[in-house]
Amino acid sequence: MKNLLNTTLLRRAFALSTLAMAAVLMVLVSGCANTDQAAGGDSSDKRPTIGFVQTGDLSDWRKAHTQSVKDAAKAAGYDLKFADGQAKLENQVKAVSSFISQGVDAIIIAPLEVSGWDNVLEKAKKRNIPVLILDRQVEVEDDSLYVTYIGADTYNEGILAAKWLVEKVDGKAKVVELQGSQGASPTINRRDSFREVIKDHPEIEIIASQAADYELTKAKEVMEAILKAKGDEIEVVYAHNDYMALGAIQAIEEAGKKPGTDIMVVSIDGMKSAFEALVAGKLNCTVECNPLQGPKAMEAIAKILAGNTEGMPKKQMVLDKVFDQSNAAEEIGNRQY
Ligand code: AHR
Repeated sequence: MKNLLNTTLLRRAFALSTLAMAAVLMVLVSGCANTDQAAGGDSSDKRPTIGFVQTGDLSDWRKAHTQSVKDAAKAAGYDLKFADGQAKLENQVKAVSSFISQGVDAIIIAPLEVSGWDNVLEKAKKRNIPVLILDRQVEVEDDSLYVTYIGADTYNEGILAAKWLVEKVDGKAKVVELQGSQGASPTINRRDSFREVIKDHPEIEIIASQAADYELTKAKEVMEAILKAKGDEIEVVYAHNDYMALGAIQAIEEAGKKPGTDIMVVSIDGMKSAFEALVAGKLNCTVECNPLQGPKAMEAIAKILAGNTEGMPKKQMVLDKVFDQSNAAEEIGNRQY
C-alpha cells in the first residue's frame, strides 16, 4: 500500500515537472518567434515610415520638389507616405495629425506659411516623432519642436536679385514687385531682403507691390491691372518666382511692350522655362532656388532615425546662383526642372 502511494506520488511529480518544462519551452519558443518577426519576416514591414506633407502641386518647381523627395526616400529604402496640402494650411495640419496618429517614424513638412504650427508640432514631440522642416520655414515659440530646417536661403535670393538690379540700372529704376503667397517664408524673405539692398539706393523706387501667390495666371492678371494704371512709368518687374515672371511677360507683350527691353524682368527659381525666356531675351535675370532637396533631406532623416543629431545645424541652406542673359545659353542644357 505504502509502495503504491509512493509510486503514484512519483508519477504525479514527474508529470508535473514535464508540464513545467513544456511550459518553459513554449515561452522560449514564442519569445524567439517574436524576435524573428521583429527582425525579419516581410522586409517591407520593417522599413522606416516617413510622412511627407507638401504645400500643393501648382508649378513645375513644386512637382520637381515632390519628385526629388519621393525618389530620395525610395533610394534610402523608406516607406514614404505622401500628403498634398492643396495650398491650404488646415489640410497640411490635418495631414501631420494623421501621420502622428499612424505612428510614423519621422515627419517632413514643406509648410505653406510660417505660422500655425505650434500645436501640431507639440503633439508630434509628445509622441517622440521627429520633424524635419523642408523648403519653407516656420516660426514657432519653441525651436525644439523640429530638428532641422533644410532649404534654400530665400533671404539671400532677394539680396542677389536686388544687387544684380542695382548694378544693371545704375542705382535708378521704377520697380513693380509681384509677391508670392502671403505668410510664406520665401515671400517674407524675398520682400524684406530686396528692400534691405535698395534702401541704400533712393532712386530705386517700388511703385507698385502686389501678391500673385506664386501663380502664373494670377500674376498675368495683376500685371495687366498695374500696366493699365502705371504702364508708362514701369521700368522693372521684380517677381518672387519664375512662374509669376512668365505671367508678367505675357501681360507686358499683350500691352504692346517688349519684356526684357522696354521693361526689365528679374525673378527667382531658375526653372527651365525661365532659362528659355532668358535665352529669348524676355527675362533679364533669375536667381536659382533649387527644388532638388530630397537627397539632403534623406541624409538628415537617416541621422535623425539613428539618433545621431549631435552638431546638426538648425538651418541647412543650399547656396543659390545668379543667371542672366550672359550665361543662360551654356546652362540651359543642365536644367533638371
Ligand atoms: O518655397 C519655394 C518657392 O515656392 C519657389 O520659389 C516657388 O516657385 C514656390 O511656389
